[in-house]
Amino acid sequence: MNAFEAGGEGRARLTQTAEWQALAKHREQLDGVQLRELFAADPARGSRLVVEVGDLHLDYSKHLVTEETLRLLRELAAATDVFGLRDAMFRGEKINTTEDRAVLHTALRAPRDAVIEVDGENVVPGVHAVLDKMAAFADKVRSGEWTGHTGKRIKNIVNIGIGGSDLGPAMAYEVLRSFTDRDLTVRFVSNVDGADLHEAVRDLDAAETLFIVASKTFTTIETITNATSARNWLLTELRAGQDAVAKHFVALSTNTGKVSDFGIDTANMFEFWDWVGGRYSYDSAIGLSLMIAIGPAAFREMLDGFHLVDEHFRTAPAELNVPLLMGLLGIWYGNFHDAQSHAVLPYSHYLSKFTAYLQQLDMESNGKSVQRNGEEVDWQTGPVVWGTPGTNGQHAYYQLIHQGTKLIPADFIGFAEPVADLLPGLVAQHDLLMANFFAQTQALAFGKTTDEVRAEGVPEELVPHKTFKGNHPTTTILAKSLTPSVLGQLVALYEHKVFVQGAVWNIDSFDQWGVELGKVLAKRVEPALTEGADVPGLDESTRALVGKYRELRGR
Ligand code: F6P
Repeated sequence: MNAFEAGGEGRARLTQTAEWQALAKHREQLDGVQLRELFAADPARGSRLVVEVGDLHLDYSKHLVTEETLRLLRELAAATDVFGLRDAMFRGEKINTTEDRAVLHTALRAPRDAVIEVDGENVVPGVHAVLDKMAAFADKVRSGEWTGHTGKRIKNIVNIGIGGSDLGPAMAYEVLRSFTDRDLTVRFVSNVDGADLHEAVRDLDAAETLFIVASKTFTTIETITNATSARNWLLTELRAGQDAVAKHFVALSTNTGKVSDFGIDTANMFEFWDWVGGRYSYDSAIGLSLMIAIGPAAFREMLDGFHLVDEHFRTAPAELNVPLLMGLLGIWYGNFHDAQSHAVLPYSHYLSKFTAYLQQLDMESNGKSVQRNGEEVDWQTGPVVWGTPGTNGQHAYYQLIHQGTKLIPADFIGFAEPVADLLPGLVAQHDLLMANFFAQTQALAFGKTTDEVRAEGVPEELVPHKTFKGNHPTTTILAKSLTPSVLGQLVALYEHKVFVQGAVWNIDSFDQWGVELGKVLAKRVEPALTEGADVPGLDESTRALVGKYRELRGR
């Protein structure tokens, strides 16, 4: 029996395994344990409970765990054969069973000489052929050799895509802004609300604008609608015919037929494959807008960063395996402490879209309630992932993390150095930013006792209000600087963390059937809005709302 067949009939019910039961018992024994106590009992804890991978230094000492907790969690991972499923993924086996697909985003960043087979075919040469084609195109745009229909140089790039065809490149463009060609304007359109495209193009010269239509399936209604509107806008602005499209539209897709139906020359299509999930795809052709912005060399550095963590995940022993550790810590809180959410709080303005990106990665992957064998789970699966850059959060929702009633484990991500091209006058602000970074994890872990508050002379009636119980678990991820490689390392870390959790929970982290129903219903409802058509199966509440909408629109 191989690892993913073990997800079928042969696998014991998770909550009934001896390993799960042992953790539940251990949790009871640890009830009420305080981080203050754990640190007092082990003064070296802060320097001992750290791991390194690539450029990332990860401190997990401020977690409600002992050596015993970590050992029991690793035993759960062994019992659920996390590494077996991992090896099957890296081998190109079809571990996405509900879609009968391999899961090989790791092949997208493999070196040129690697051999990774799907159905007996080595996919690595194809990956590098597309990367080379992307690099040649990116260089042409960046150098001005690629011109628009009227001969003008391309100065604006507009990526049209949604979900995994938007969040990844949009996030990474933001993260790596200081590595981008600042003469290029790069925008991302995803929302089918016409306002998104309107705001993206209203001040652009169509003759200088390149649209990148990013869609794995090339059937996603939001993307195709926006791409069609963008084409109309372009042709109207240029007063040109269909032949102008070739110089202003390229496609990123797995679907050659649909790309060609749309009118895009398939010579200007950059392909990827069905073994790349949408939310795992920005290091594929979906990253073309990013590659144009940062250049092929920086893009390769980013891929190498991903690969470094892939290799770590594939080969590091369980005790040192960082994605395994992160995944298991999440399981500890989600399954044994009833934590419902997980905050990711970057202390870098450039990571402002990072958590939004992780929301799709994590919640579309592990937001499941049916096991790989089709049976319902009776344990919690993926958490609600949320967060924004830390200092802004401090003045908004940190109050609830510090003194609310919910347990919210959080990842703090920060950098020793500001980005290289920061205006010299702003460099000094970095220490203040990072002082907040360190202060917050300290405050969350250790709080402020009633005695400490009293000792400050606080009036007795305010003492309970000013007391911080602490004991809020955090992971600190620190790196020297935010480079393309470090971004790749960070994303791969979270990808594999999500993998680990899905493997333990016995769910298919690589399908997304939960998004289908809404799509089907939207198609059905649209004629009710536009034509007042009587839509069968519309419930009473929705029917009344549609009526109100039509009334408000004067229809
Ligand atoms: O609806 C969800 C989804 O399928 C995501 O998984 C995907 O990233 C997104 O839609 C966009 O899909 P496509 O790239 O095929 O347009």
